[in-house]
Amino acid sequence: MSAKIIDGKAIAQTIRSEIADEVRLLSQNHAKVPGLAVVIVGNRKDSQSYVNMKRKACAEVGIKSFDIDLPEQVSEPELIAKVHELNANPEVHGILVQLPLPKHINEENVLSEISIEKDVDGFHPLNIGKLAMKGRDPLFQPCTPKGCLELLSRSGISIKGKKAVVVGRSNIVGLPVSLLLLKADATISIVHSRTTDPESIIREADIVIAAAGQAMMIKGDWIKPGAAVIDVGTNAVDDPSKKSGYRLVGDVDFHEVSKVAGWITPVPGGVGPMTVAMLLRNTLDGAKRVIGQ
Ligand code: GUN
Repeated sequence: MSAKIIDGKAIAQTIRSEIADEVRLLSQNHAKVPGLAVVIVGNRKDSQSYVNMKRKACAEVGIKSFDIDLPEQVSEPELIAKVHELNANPEVHGILVQLPLPKHINEENVLSEISIEKDVDGFHPLNIGKLAMKGRDPLFQPCTPKGCLELLSRSGISIKGKKAVVVGRSNIVGLPVSLLLLKADATISIVHSRTTDPESIIREADIVIAAAGQAMMIKGDWIKPGAAVIDVGTNAVDDPSKKSGYRLVGDVDFHEVSKVAGWITPVPGGVGPMTVAMLLRNTLDGAKRVIGQ
């Protein structure tokens, strides 16, 4: 058996063109342009490349990006003052503070200061709390988890009543994707670094979301035949045959798992492009909410 490849790059491109059309309509009919503030602190190479991707994607769909680059040494009060300034700016409909922040800054203190109406990352404790509660909806769902569910739905994979196993329990992916799957009526298990015998739990899953940050950890014989496998991992491994000296691999052993699974996302070109597409979607939705559309 050979898995169908879920082409995240192509699906994200479709979504981006849908967004570009809506942005055009908004500016024609209401003379409004959605705005996204992307804040980066310090000069981590990985964060810089993610932020550059996000800013470039904004430009491509007609969203105005506000670029805020702060030095590594910026203080927590200074960063919070910048967030307050963006909260008050009516041209800004979304605020994203790229994580991780330097060690001397408390992430929770900063994220809690972002206006929930502009929390396009969906990381504000109130938005996460609403995501966790039955009958409540957050103003924004976190982008990577939302992208995982969008990949499933656009591939015709139903969630309701299925067994879903999430590998990893981070605030950015593992926890919120579990909550989204639960809201979509899956029966969920979360496997993490302290789980005894994770393989046997993963082997029961109809849907596996791998977000552990461990290169090629999930092997072919851990997967139920026909399962849908969404790989959120992006791990750099040494590869002397590449000019850069490294290549990116997921948390899933693609070579093995693609022989067993029913569907699989590649790395790169699976979940990654969806995170950016969902950020654009959230920013547009935030702007439409303010404009009353
Ligand atoms: N760092 C890694 N992923 C993300 C994300 O989705 N949003 C932000 N703000 N930081 C991140």
